[in-house]
Amino acid sequence: MKSHMFLFCVIFISVFSNPIKNDFPIPAGAGLNIFEFLDLYDYTHEEHSVVTEDGYILGLHRITSSPRNRAEGPKPVVFLMHGLESSSMDWVDVGPESALGLMLSDTGYDVWLGNNRGNTWSRNHTSLSVKDKRFWDFSFHEIGKYDLSALIDHILETTRVNNLTYVGHSQGTTAFFALTALKPEYNEKINLMVALAPVAYMDDMTNWVPRLMSNPINNLIIGFGIQSIRFYDILPHIELFTVVGKKICPDGSPLQFLCADIIYAVAGSSPQLNRNLLPVFLSNTPAGTSYRQMMHYVQELRSGHFRAYDYSIIKNRKIYKQSTPPSYNVTNIKAPVALFYSENDVFAAVQDVTRFANDLPNVVSMNKIKYGQFSHLDFLWATDLNEYVNFDVINLINKYNNISADSSNSAGLVLQSSNFILITKLLIINSINYLFL
Ligand SMILES: *[C@@H]1O[C@H](CO)[C@@H](O)[C@H](O)[C@H]1NC(C)=O
Ligand SMILES: *[C@@H]1O[C@H](CO)[C@@H](O)[C@H](O)[C@H]1NC(C)=O
Ligand SMILES: *[C@@H]1O[C@H](CO)[C@@H](O)[C@H](O)[C@H]1NC(C)=O
Ligand SMILES: *[C@@H]1O[C@H](CO)[C@@H](O)[C@H](O)[C@H]1NC(C)=O
Repeated sequence: MKSHMFLFCVIFISVFSNPIKNDFPIPAGAGLNIFEFLDLYDYTHEEHSVVTEDGYILGLHRITSSPRNRAEGPKPVVFLMHGLESSSMDWVDVGPESALGLMLSDTGYDVWLGNNRGNTWSRNHTSLSVKDKRFWDFSFHEIGKYDLSALIDHILETTRVNNLTYVGHSQGTTAFFALTALKPEYNEKINLMVALAPVAYMDDMTNWVPRLMSNPINNLIIGFGIQSIRFYDILPHIELFTVVGKKICPDGSPLQFLCADIIYAVAGSSPQLNRNLLPVFLSNTPAGTSYRQMMHYVQELRSGHFRAYDYSIIKNRKIYKQSTPPSYNVTNIKAPVALFYSENDVFAAVQDVTRFANDLPNVVSMNKIKYGQFSHLDFLWATDLNEYVNFDVINLINKYNNISADSSNSAGLVLQSSNFILITKLLIINSINYLFL
């Protein structure tokens, strides 16, 4: 704990006093939002606004075509949903060589990227302001029940297909499981669900942050603190992260290890973290969530159940008509589910994933990553993402969409002539950064 505080201090002081002259070349995508990022790599895109049953206005992003595949007309649909404190950017930010969202577009899919309530792209509401405490009164329960159902309906209506492939990372899996347990009719709209680092049962999880928060005394103190300073919006994206990312975290910076260490401290360490892209990652992550969302996870850790939010006995009786919250009915989750998990994941422990898989009625594929130190965020940011995750995921998605292509070929496309313009563009942008920043 103390050492983590120390790291934060060093970083803040370094940014403001700027003791090191910053002339490290930063990667091209740093400082860009998702649309600027897609423009840079020549992917066409759309932004949709989707209103949920309870009034949240969500930003839904769509990649309509890739420089390697400009095909028009109906395509099979994939919907990707990010994890806690993240956004649609998760699926593109490692760039065309290994970002799942971009590779799916290259392969010929109509790719949709969700954003849950409260993150960078989903901070509007028909009647509530983000300053209102009631705006932040949600957890993965509401994200599943209201956000995912509205997003899936909007996608199916727009594309006029009957079903789609859902890919979730972390909280993107939890919310999906809550949705399909609560509203089983959504199972029929899913031809395959791919769960990366799935989180449902949590009692074997080893990460220190939720463990610390789950201690009843800490819990009380933190809760009281949050209430009294009205701090419900946890880690929204502020410019400071982007600035730190660009100044402290690029390749060549003597302090780069600090950036990696902070990510390791919060989300588990791994030699696979793609460090040279740290400035890009920090340009959009963290992206904000509610305090209650984090507490719901802490409750799962403490109870060992996958169940609705615990309001404490008196309020539970009023809301649920029983003293404990009802468990999600996992047998309702009838959509075909493929699980990808790893031994070094401090949020999704292998024991928890296996126990959950045993309860799920329709697991079609269990994939333990063939690299012992693969971590929770490696599912997004690993150097060898294709080898460990993407090729297998894309092959599976192809199979369930009745497409015969073999995704391991698509990596070969990356350096073909159509990329000449792209590479030139990158070189120019890099030199501009180098000269002026
Ligand atoms: C939310 O409101 C802002 C400001 O009015 C607007 O720019 C943005 O597009 C809105 N987001 C969505 C998803 O509609
Ligand atoms: C998905 O939709 C297609 C056509 O729209 C249909 O042929 C297929 O049976 C559906 N698959 C599932 C798993 O529902
Ligand atoms: C859970 O759902 C199944 C059907 O999927 C049903 O048979 C069972 O009774 C439900 N269990 C509970 C506790 O509601
Ligand atoms: C793919 O084909 C199988 C067998 O014909 C069918 O059951 C399934 O629904 C199809 N999937 C899609 C997404 O069309």
